[in-house]
Amino acid sequence: MNDTFLKACRGEKTAYTPIWMMRQAGRYLPEYQKVRGKVSFLELCKTPDLCVEVTLQPVDLLGMDAAILFSDILILMEAMGAPLEFHEGRGPIFHTTIRDQAALDCLTVPDADEKTGFVMETIRLLRRELQVPLIGFAGAPFTCATYLIEGGSSKVFWETKKMMYREPELFHNLMAKITDSTILYLQAQARAGAQALQLFDSWVGILAPDDFTQFALPYVQKILAALKPSGLPLIYFANNGSTLLELSATSGADVIGLDWRMPIGEAIKRVGKKAVQGNLDPFALLLPKDQLRAKIGRLLEDAKDAHGHIFNLGHGIHQFTPPEQAKIAVDAVHELSCR
Ligand code: CP3
Repeated sequence: MNDTFLKACRGEKTAYTPIWMMRQAGRYLPEYQKVRGKVSFLELCKTPDLCVEVTLQPVDLLGMDAAILFSDILILMEAMGAPLEFHEGRGPIFHTTIRDQAALDCLTVPDADEKTGFVMETIRLLRRELQVPLIGFAGAPFTCATYLIEGGSSKVFWETKKMMYREPELFHNLMAKITDSTILYLQAQARAGAQALQLFDSWVGILAPDDFTQFALPYVQKILAALKPSGLPLIYFANNGSTLLELSATSGADVIGLDWRMPIGEAIKRVGKKAVQGNLDPFALLLPKDQLRAKIGRLLEDAKDAHGHIFNLGHGIHQFTPPEQAKIAVDAVHELSCR
């Protein structure tokens, strides 16, 4: 068992810097496309054998030091009672938006084993196959709330911010319900065998620090406090969160995820005694080989004072990235960080 990733999460010395990539299982891999050619995305998420297959692909093909469960953050929203659809090229859609208390009352706090048993089954099956640690995950409440309120992806988040400022009580009620559901969901993932847990806060970077403190952070803290007894490394990734770093460091996470918008050395100083995960610009994978390797070398050097560094991209790998380029990055991290 290669436990380099887990050691780095705990801030222990490792023989080299471990690497995995957010959204490492996905459309940039022809092997994934082949599986997806046969089923819809949601069917894929609900078929444990296929989830196992696509979770293993980047680990086997590219040599990642950790696997991330193949699923989606919105699977839990669907289990709470919000019907979910994915349309080719349009992303996720919720036709019933949550914009008043009556709509919120229709959502439940689901029993995770009962309503999302396929996720737990995927985790159990994966643990039999994997030689690297398995990361379980959920969306952080703010990011999940934006999908339920907007009814899908958004650029301006008008409805979300309108609710925050005009109906704060309703907003907090929604956040509380997502939080309770997420705790049960991640506790079930831990019981099923997940070896680390990551909260993805993809859209929280639209908040000013004081609004983050008031409307989002307390819910992240509540989730991570509830998961602490599991003993698993906990990762919090606030995308676009460079202005929120010191606050994110109070989330209760052991590892702070970093996007690419700030120098990693600076981020390390700001988070204090925490491991960091990141932070190569996903588009840097398009660089010619020598330049990509040089950029990775500089990043590793800048991260040398971290209390644990897990190499990753600053956000998910883009769907048109050539897989060979991802492989160059994995090999470069392993070679250049070898101690
Ligand atoms: O390899 C992995 O990282 C595990 C699988 C994973 C997926 N989604 C698979 C997926 C993970 C961890 C996620 C998280 C996720 N899902 C986030 C947070 C991370 C981030 O990128 O910010 C968010 C915001 C979502 C919601 C979501 N799912 C959107 C907006 C979309 C459509 C846009 C897009 O990128 O296509 C998805 C679909 C999705 N989730 C795909 C995959 C592989 C593509 C589906 C397909 O095959 O067509």
